[in-house]
Amino acid sequence: MPDTTTIELKDIRKTYTMGEARIYALRGINLTIKQGEMVAVMGASGSGKSTFLNIVGCLDKPTKGTYYLDGENVSELDKDQLATIRNKRLGFVFQGFNLLGRATVEANVELPMIYAGVEKKEMAVRAKDALQWVGLSKYLHHYPNQMSGGQQQRVAIARALVNNPSLILADEPTGALDSRTSIEIVAVIQRLNQEKGITVVMVTHEKDIAQYCKRLVTIKDGHVIEDTPVLNQRNADEDLAALPVEAEAGL
Ligand SMILES: Nc1ncnc2c1ncn2[C@@H]1O[C@H](COP(=O)(O)OP(=O)(O)O)[C@@H](O)[C@H]1O
Ligand SMILES: [Mg+2]
Repeated sequence: MPDTTTIELKDIRKTYTMGEARIYALRGINLTIKQGEMVAVMGASGSGKSTFLNIVGCLDKPTKGTYYLDGENVSELDKDQLATIRNKRLGFVFQGFNLLGRATVEANVELPMIYAGVEKKEMAVRAKDALQWVGLSKYLHHYPNQMSGGQQQRVAIARALVNNPSLILADEPTGALDSRTSIEIVAVIQRLNQEKGITVVMVTHEKDIAQYCKRLVTIKDGHVIEDTPVLNQRNADEDLAALPVEAEAGL
């Protein structure tokens, strides 16, 4: 297995059993995503996007098939081993931000480092760095409910960054945000990809948002039905600069 391959999926299937009923959520996915790619995953509601992302993110295991992550067959690992991979090598961003409401921004961002056993001093340094990176260094002691949706998503991105992941998985990261704020969040994700070289796999149902990625994978009924390069990948910073300034309030 060449070490430049981040994700390699071979005939990945996922079947959910609900009583008598079987739902074939993924029906044989074959896909390779290399280190440094920025991939959008699109498809109608119920097509299997989240199931796909959960398997790629080691949050769930396939019913059948093989998944190599950086050359390692992770489809054979147990729950604890998968949790370690998630914590050390992956970062997650979700539509609903998934922050702890009773914890400060700093505590939210430090959480993955607590699991990783990072020293307290080092935690504080890395939390500050990550928050600075997303433009929120002044918000250490705020609580999520004192912040806008866009700010909360930035906190979630900072949290996803603190253990230096090689891969970020985002499930509808802009699904709860207005259009300008969506582009702001995509700008942060693009910078992660371009400046830090982090591989990004982002589920979205918005064609506009997918245009900021380099590659577009379309899923339908649990199959990949299309896999194409994005011809004119948009630059989120440029698009933001072209928007009227008075809309800046959402920042
Ligand atoms: N935990 C689950 N248990 C049973 N069925 C599920 C579960 N998660 C998803 N499904 C079903 O699998 C299919 C794919 O769902 P999902 O991956 O969430 O699609 P998408 O993210 O594209 O909307 C749907 O039919 C959905 O109802
Ligand atoms: Mg989904």
